[in-house]
Amino acid sequence: MPAIELVVCMGSACFSRGNIKVLDLIQGYLREHGLEQDVQVRGTLCQDRCRQGPNVTIQGECFCGMEPKAILQTLEERLGQSAGDVR
Ligand code: FES
Repeated sequence: MPAIELVVCMGSACFSRGNIKVLDLIQGYLREHGLEQDVQVRGTLCQDRCRQGPNVTIQGECFCGMEPKAILQTLEERLGQSAGDVR
């Protein structure tokens, strides 16, 4: 059972701001780091933070403005440590 929950806002504003690219980067990161079994990725409806999108929530903490560079940095910060914990 995945230990970590990662939620990508799939609302229309986050879509227009590039959430599909963000989702691709997340899935690639998890694959590259062998975390696919440890992290549950799911989508959600609009989180009412449209102007700040794309928005991603990791373990209940919302990260706004997840442009490609920002999401990779956030994944490294949040999951890089967790990867060692859950393996
Ligand atoms: S569409 Fe993502 S917060 Fe509204």
